[in-house]
Amino acid sequence: MTRKLHLALHPYGVGGPGQHGLWKDPGVAKNASIDINYYIAQAKAAEHALFDALFIVDSQFINATYPAHYLNRLEPLTLLSAVATHTKHIGLVATASSTYNSPFNLARRFASLDHISGGRAGWNVVTSFDTGTSRNYGLEEHLDYATRYGRALESVQVVRGLWDSYEDDAFPADVEHGVFLDPSKLHALNHAGEHFRVDGPLNLSRSPQGQPVIFQAGVSEEGRNLAAQVAEGIYAPGGSIEDAHAYYTDIKRRTALTGRDPDHIKIFIHGGPVVRGTDAAAQRREADIFAEDDDFDRNVGLLGRAFGAHDFSQYDLDAPFPDVAHLAERGGRTGAARIIERAKTEGLTLRQVVATFNERKKSPFVGSPKTVADTIEQWFAAGTFDGINLAFRNDEDLSLFVDGVIPLLQERGLYRTEYEADTLRGNLGLPIPANRHTLVTA
Ligand SMILES: Cc1cc2nc3c(=O)[nH]c(=O)nc-3n(C[C@H](O)[C@H](O)[C@H](O)COP(=O)(O)O)c2cc1C
Repeated sequence: MTRKLHLALHPYGVGGPGQHGLWKDPGVAKNASIDINYYIAQAKAAEHALFDALFIVDSQFINATYPAHYLNRLEPLTLLSAVATHTKHIGLVATASSTYNSPFNLARRFASLDHISGGRAGWNVVTSFDTGTSRNYGLEEHLDYATRYGRALESVQVVRGLWDSYEDDAFPADVEHGVFLDPSKLHALNHAGEHFRVDGPLNLSRSPQGQPVIFQAGVSEEGRNLAAQVAEGIYAPGGSIEDAHAYYTDIKRRTALTGRDPDHIKIFIHGGPVVRGTDAAAQRREADIFAEDDDFDRNVGLLGRAFGAHDFSQYDLDAPFPDVAHLAERGGRTGAARIIERAKTEGLTLRQVVATFNERKKSPFVGSPKTVADTIEQWFAAGTFDGINLAFRNDEDLSLFVDGVIPLLQERGLYRTEYEADTLRGNLGLPIPANRHTLVTA
């Protein structure tokens, strides 16, 4: 069987990091980020194009410098529960922090989405990027990396344990004999670990896909190891074809080392395709988008995010980049380390760091439908991804990709012509995890 690529849609709302000008786009409603009809329409368009999933990112800390979409946004599980009732096939992946949620709460909310959607839920496990979130949850400081990722691993283990509380035939609901529940098929968890004590059981049974699909989106050593141990999908940054190949190979290798089948972790890279009738027109459109977003003051604000929302506007822009490494230790350490390293080796001022941090990063997927399909095919064949997490500027950009590129990918046998299944797991080609209690008693 030919390997098929997977696609997810990541709606921008009115614009996340770097898309500072998107809210001004006449093709985007000013309230898109809080309008459920916007998300339903995005999900329907993605489902029409046979995408595997709608992916919703999240954060829980803002100040006035944050991107437009972050300032005013819906909570992902609430949002996707509404989307679920308007769609049938598309997977619904919500980002939720293992740092600022209890596992019981997570298990219950994701299992609920899984039931509401008939087996289409996924949990993107993040440890939270914004250090300031801690002060919204009664903690003075964000957790350090080791604690954050230790907690994330244990959280996923507890959540999965809770999802197995009921065996599939736990509810005979036998009116004649007066038996609703077979208590031998209900299992407490009795977990006592380093970070959590959770008795269980969960008051919710398994869905048609057994358990929601676990995604992960961390790029540090700790993040990669977490992915290798528990993730079934991963949202990766992408970058150049060489970077993407190195990342892909590394994650598959780490996954195999844990004894898992590397094919059971699907790697999605970020892709922001720009499609127009000709390569030149698409490149012009990409340049226009960059110009719309290029706002120096907002870029200064954005730079601060990885450093605990640090206010860089207080420094002399033409002095050397300030010594702020310690601020990233608990925040976005991986990205921040790259910024600091470059500032040091190239001797950059703060102004130059802001400019290089936001320099135009050309997407590889820009051009005519044929060019974009060719590039996707080349990257896919080179072992750089199992799927692409697609983000489009507006609905017109989405339609031009769907109408122009998807048919070419289908003709080449790279992309499905119909959904294989009604569940996210089924479409991603992931196995249904056996219930641990059924395994024990079998
Ligand atoms: C593609 C991608 C998407 C992410 N989405 C989120 C998100 O929605 N919310 C969040 O708090 N962090 C998000 N993260 C950040 C990670 O969860 C992680 O906390 C952060 O990158 C710092 O850890 P790291 O150094 O392991 O990457 C994302 C990361 C990547 C690469």
